[in-house]
Amino acid sequence: IIAAFQPKLLAGRRVLLTAGPTFEPIDPVRGITNLSSGKMGYALARAAREAGADVMLVSGPTALEIPHGVQRIDVQTAQQMHDAVMANVVGQDLFVAVAAVADWRVANASTQKLKKNADGGAPQLQFTQNPDILAEVAALPRRPYCVGFAAESENLAQYGAAKRVKKNIPLLVGNLGPQTFGRDDNALMLFDEQGHTSLPHADKLTLARQLVREIARRMAA
Ligand code: CTP
Ligand code: CA
Repeated sequence: IIAAFQPKLLAGRRVLLTAGPTFEPIDPVRGITNLSSGKMGYALARAAREAGADVMLVSGPTALEIPHGVQRIDVQTAQQMHDAVMANVVGQDLFVAVAAVADWRVANASTQKLKKNADGGAPQLQFTQNPDILAEVAALPRRPYCVGFAAESENLAQYGAAKRVKKNIPLLVGNLGPQTFGRDDNALMLFDEQGHTSLPHADKLTLARQLVREIARRMAA
């Protein structure tokens, strides 16, 4: 009902998002993940849909329901998230990378469940870097408008500005983590070419709707 009153700022636009954590297997029953709940990404998918967009959400494992009218592709690993994004990015107008993608995966993951040794030794895990999905999309010759997210534990204003430049994207949304993970509210800092502005503390759906307005305005400019 509320949605009917949202201005259709993204009508006719195609939007691709990533959300949630990734899960990197160690063996068939164990893995490495992170504290992302997916709530911010799902709120943004919902807000983009309310704004009239055609929305596709590539999601790591979460306990959240698919937002109404949104097409969801479920993945586990960063590599699967990468592959799903690259298979669907052509023709998208906007790409929003909200997922907390694992920077590394286990290179020597076991195909069988690891067993404890009688000698008390522990497994030695080796890691290899995952593809940077956002950087890869941002480097496409006909790239969609790209928005990144960053959770920083400190120095948000400095790190946020630097990360936007490093990723070569027009807009980066920063927040302080991990204290916001799993919560229903947040406060955001928006970094663009002009500098940074703040979206003060609010629930994640309110912030998502504000963010859709901020993004739509920049896409139209
Ligand atoms: N991202 C991505 N693929 C990755 C890593 C990150 O798409 N393999 C995206 C995230 O979804 C987010 C943005 O890049 O939108 C920034 O992620 P972040 O982890 O803050 O940046 P990194 O470049 O990985 O830097 P850091 O060393 O601080 O983790
Ligand atoms: Ca990272």
